[in-house]
Amino acid sequence: MPPESPTLASFMAGLPASARLSRSAFEEIRTLARQVFGLDLKQGKESLVSARLGKRVRDLGLQDIPAYLDYVRADRSGAELSALIDALTTNFTSFMREAQHFTHLRERILPALEARPAAFTIWSAGCSTGEEPYSILFQCAEALGLPRLDSLRLLATDISTRVLAAAQSGVFTAERLKDLPQAWHRRYFRRGEGASAGMMRVRPEWRQRVSFARLNLMQDFSRLPQCAVIFCRNVMIYFDRPTQEQLVRRFAAQLEPGGWLLVGHSEGLMGFQHGLDCILPAIYRKPGRAPAKRSAS
Ligand SMILES: C[S@@+](CC[C@H](N)C(=O)[O-])C[C@H]1O[C@@H](n2cnc3c(N)ncnc32)[C@H](O)[C@@H]1O
Repeated sequence: MPPESPTLASFMAGLPASARLSRSAFEEIRTLARQVFGLDLKQGKESLVSARLGKRVRDLGLQDIPAYLDYVRADRSGAELSALIDALTTNFTSFMREAQHFTHLRERILPALEARPAAFTIWSAGCSTGEEPYSILFQCAEALGLPRLDSLRLLATDISTRVLAAAQSGVFTAERLKDLPQAWHRRYFRRGEGASAGMMRVRPEWRQRVSFARLNLMQDFSRLPQCAVIFCRNVMIYFDRPTQEQLVRRFAAQLEPGGWLLVGHSEGLMGFQHGLDCILPAIYRKPGRAPAKRSAS
């Protein structure tokens, strides 16, 4: 095993035992993160990993990071794996993030879908705490109105059980709603009172229109319904290029002909073989015509 570099070694020496990360432990975390989550933990991320996992080690009352890795391996429920990915990635998100996507949804995608006779699926893959799927829902509600909105099947998935629980509860600080029109605050949210003052909660009749589920994008998702639109934004940045390319191809297979894939603006798919047409920055479309008739299930 190569010796640790002097800078890394001296950095590690200054850390409490709970956060000290040997090169072999870092390599073990890297391998685990790549195999299980597709995560690309680059060399040089040691300090970030030790700071993030050190906190988890202390919270669990464990001795050090190798003891924590034993704990992760022994936990058959997968809950600690979920906590591990939480510690290694960021869940940053916001309502109407990358607003051009929502303009495109309103002006181009929904008019095309509205003309269709039956149900369609929109999938928010890597939905974090829910701001993305709720933004999609509100935009669809505004554009389609009732009862046409009943044609929408809105699926929202993430690998992290923690963010999914937050998303399902639909509770946000009022400050987080700043990018939504005021009229939407009243229409889609209930204002918290008493101990919940300053909080806003998505009204139950809107919350129940989103199907939240845990899904690791590294695993097979071909049994999901074919999608009219897939949002997978600011998720692939964590993956290496081959993993990204493979995932984009699987998304392409999951789209119905004429369907759209929306990725984060910093996630270029340049050089990938995926068979999708790039119609605007970060917006891709599968060639072909949407099916004329579909089952409503
Ligand atoms: C930065 S957030 C992006 C949220 C939202 N899509 C947006 O653009 O605002 C990235 C999310 O991807 C999730 N994620 C990371 N790796 C994943 C994987 N292998 N499968 C599913 N979700 C994953 C994380 O848990 C996190 O919630």
